[in-house]
Amino acid sequence: MINPATLKAKFVELFDTQPLLVRSPGRINLIGEHTDYNDGYVMPAAIDRQIIVAMDFAADDHSTLYSVKHNEFFSFHTADPGRVTSPLWANYLLGVVRKFLDLGKAVKPFNCVIDGDVPTGAGLSSSAALECSFAFALNHQQRFNISKKDLTLIAQWSEHHYAGVKCGIMDQFASVMGEKGKAFVLDCRSLEHRYFPVDLTQVTIVLCDSMVKHTLASTEYNTRRAECEEGVRILKQHYPNVIALRDITSEMLEKHRSEFSDKVYNRCLYVVEENQRVLDASRDLAEGNLAAFGKKMFLTHEGLSKMYEVSCEELDFLVDEAKKISGVVGARMMGGGFGGCTINFVARDEVKVFIDAMQKSWQAKYGDPMNIYVVSLADGTSVISG
Ligand code: GLA
Repeated sequence: MINPATLKAKFVELFDTQPLLVRSPGRINLIGEHTDYNDGYVMPAAIDRQIIVAMDFAADDHSTLYSVKHNEFFSFHTADPGRVTSPLWANYLLGVVRKFLDLGKAVKPFNCVIDGDVPTGAGLSSSAALECSFAFALNHQQRFNISKKDLTLIAQWSEHHYAGVKCGIMDQFASVMGEKGKAFVLDCRSLEHRYFPVDLTQVTIVLCDSMVKHTLASTEYNTRRAECEEGVRILKQHYPNVIALRDITSEMLEKHRSEFSDKVYNRCLYVVEENQRVLDASRDLAEGNLAAFGKKMFLTHEGLSKMYEVSCEELDFLVDEAKKISGVVGARMMGGGFGGCTINFVARDEVKVFIDAMQKSWQAKYGDPMNIYVVSLADGTSVISG
């Protein structure tokens, strides 16, 4: 657990002024994967792991960033926040500053210290938490009056242009807008969202961290997005109102099947089915039908693995093993894929059995112990003090 007082003390030690402290959490996604950049539906929640930013104005033209985790400083001229080849973590923040400047905001030089306990590369959106905590802090401190919604878009812009991943809006939106004890269904086109409580008295949300992040993750992610756009291009010729895969049905796909490569067809069909699953799953949860919800999690995994092809051996193994354990309501890979975590809904009384069994089978196959996180649902970005 990260301690805000320790971070504050570090800031005072380094810069000798009293900082503003802002936190922003990582996220999980219950269902609705790779649907956000297709204008579809997702069902995320913020979790009890976060990035904290300490910030105050600086005395000269330069802004200085310090990452506790990397024990590394980075200084830049505030009016010229170009993308850098090293350190890579600075890019997430530099992109945010660039976008503020592009929006006509006169960013004054600042000092900033960052730490957090969102595991990186685990598919829990540590990068969104970093961008959002920083964007929120800058906005608050320099009184730019940018809305929370626009801050999520600024954070996403940074991810696209400075980190090079053409992500959807889910991660940043969940990090900023999460509510304690709740998940929400987000319409990624209108950004309308509806919160609902997740009753963790019956099930516990357990994440199994494959601890791999295959190097093709970000290139393959961008390729999936391009494949979806290809599907839209094909169908738009017949249905001019189609803007994104959100607008297509399986009937439309079937009718024009011959115009699609197998690959693009599979990608599109997965997205159409997954969007429908999110809507159906939200009804399952409203009716308290966890069994039906869990089945959909398994179906999502199947689709991500076979049709969308963003899983990997380790993730498939974790889901297959989870399936064998009684007490598991549902399991699937979560996030962009090619590594990171699986999300498991486990009957509360069976959590210990689940963790022991998963740990055992993982170690038997891969040797090293795996990280397992039990998470609860937390509030989105907020000011801690200052
Ligand atoms: C990553 C992206 C999100 C989303 C997921 C897949 O987390 O950042 O925008 O596309 O992958 O659902």
